[in-house]
Amino acid sequence: MVFLRMQQNHVLILDFGSQYTQLIARRVRELNIYCEIHPYNHPPKNQSEFKAIILSGSPNSVRGENVLHPDLSEILGKKPVLAVCYGAQYLAHFSGGKVAPSNTREYGRANLSFVKSNETFFENISEGSQVWMSHSDTIKELPTNGELLASTKDVENAAYKIKDQNTFAIQFHPEVYHSTDGKQLLENFLVKIAGVAQTWTPDSFVESTVSAIREKVGNDKVVLGLSGGVDSSVAAVLLNKAIGQNLYCIFVNNGLLRKNEFETVLKRYEGMGLNVKGVDASARFLKALEGVTDPEKKRKAIGNSFIEVFDDEANKITDVTWLAQGTIYPDVIESVSVNGGPSATIKSHHNVGGLPDFMKLKIVEPLKMIFKDEVRRVGASMGIDPELLGRHPFPGPGLGIRILGDITAEKVRILQEVDAVFINGLKEDGLYDKVWQAGAMLLPVNSVGVMGDERTYEKVVALRAVESTDGMTADWVNLPYEFLQKTSNKIINQVKGVNRVVYDISSKPPATIEWE
Ligand code: XMP
Repeated sequence: MVFLRMQQNHVLILDFGSQYTQLIARRVRELNIYCEIHPYNHPPKNQSEFKAIILSGSPNSVRGENVLHPDLSEILGKKPVLAVCYGAQYLAHFSGGKVAPSNTREYGRANLSFVKSNETFFENISEGSQVWMSHSDTIKELPTNGELLASTKDVENAAYKIKDQNTFAIQFHPEVYHSTDGKQLLENFLVKIAGVAQTWTPDSFVESTVSAIREKVGNDKVVLGLSGGVDSSVAAVLLNKAIGQNLYCIFVNNGLLRKNEFETVLKRYEGMGLNVKGVDASARFLKALEGVTDPEKKRKAIGNSFIEVFDDEANKITDVTWLAQGTIYPDVIESVSVNGGPSATIKSHHNVGGLPDFMKLKIVEPLKMIFKDEVRRVGASMGIDPELLGRHPFPGPGLGIRILGDITAEKVRILQEVDAVFINGLKEDGLYDKVWQAGAMLLPVNSVGVMGDERTYEKVVALRAVESTDGMTADWVNLPYEFLQKTSNKIINQVKGVNRVVYDISSKPPATIEWE
């Protein structure tokens, strides 16, 4: 489902596999301009609907044999093009210039020195502006139709254009934070040179998405699995706006949710006017998990039970033909597989744990083309409670992958209590919003302690709080000692069965955020 195609004001980013490609997209979106990332070797069929094209960077070298060498003649001179890093090198290579290894690897800060400072491309950017370099090849010779625009101390051809075209190239990365005027440069290119209108806003997204859903779904019934998290909630509100009571939401209690989560969240959803059914299937999940200790088997048991419960419930709704999911853009984009050749595909994740074939439902994913921060902005523009929008991520298998070893109702109770003390404490001390994700793990060991005059032999729990942007990498948060001290005391005093609290100080990698 592609939204906003009617606007004709969007930008195509052709991805050559750079780790920064998503960042380019985010910067462009911050300018209120809609853009889509497509692998360089799977460009969209109808390129005419894109108003400008950006060629991304790549970890590869243009000197490699026949890799990442698409034919640019289809676009050069026909559309405004901005080539970044590898893109700039490939543009030079393709147009007859020369690219060779740099004498020194060029990483980090550099400062621009303009050769042509009166260019619209550099409007509102000062001489000496800091840019960020990350490349090991360099453009030794520009193509004969190339015109040098700027250099840095180490990189002569830091910015150039192709004469008589709206084709620009930069060796540095405008999308990264350390390129101080990077956003201005993108704006100069997209708005002033390419004439793209800045009409992409949460409100415009809601408006066009609601009409696209209505057009696509018509009077059909749609079923959606709510998780209590941001994505499925925003997706549900959007669908509710579009089709009202034809949206059937199902919120399953798998018995592995946070303390009181099922009741609280269900009430909140009902207050939001959603047509939602809460299904308490805790016993079924616990039964399926009995004696299971292997983390992957736990995930499977939880995933399969979810499908069974969800399918049972969906079958009770007569004539349902669509399944809605809260899939977001990062789930969808798969960068070009640079090592494995042009194997890039766009894949669809099934957030609800995999769709069984026999359900045969058509899929609607209204958030498929937007990033997490945009999901939050869209949610805010529809009036969703900021507390819901600011919630930490919580894994689908819930506390099931935070209880190491086998899972019992008693262990779930202990962990729910511990987690509630920790999370409420973070909220009370104004730390919750400073942390990307936090939770507690119940370890499969007992340790000796002493309470009063009594020897105890009870559970150990680990607290984990991380900062991250996307969960792919993460670092532990330096929570104040006083907070840790207070929380540890509260847990040991209030939660029966726990006599020791430890704090996890591992980064990801090499550790993961969850312990299983
Ligand atoms: P890891 O543990 O891989 O976690 O560093 C990264 C992020 O993903 C979440 N996570 C999951 N989410 N199903 C989910 O829906 C899962 O099986 C799962 N495993 C991990 C985790 O909470 C963190 O935000």
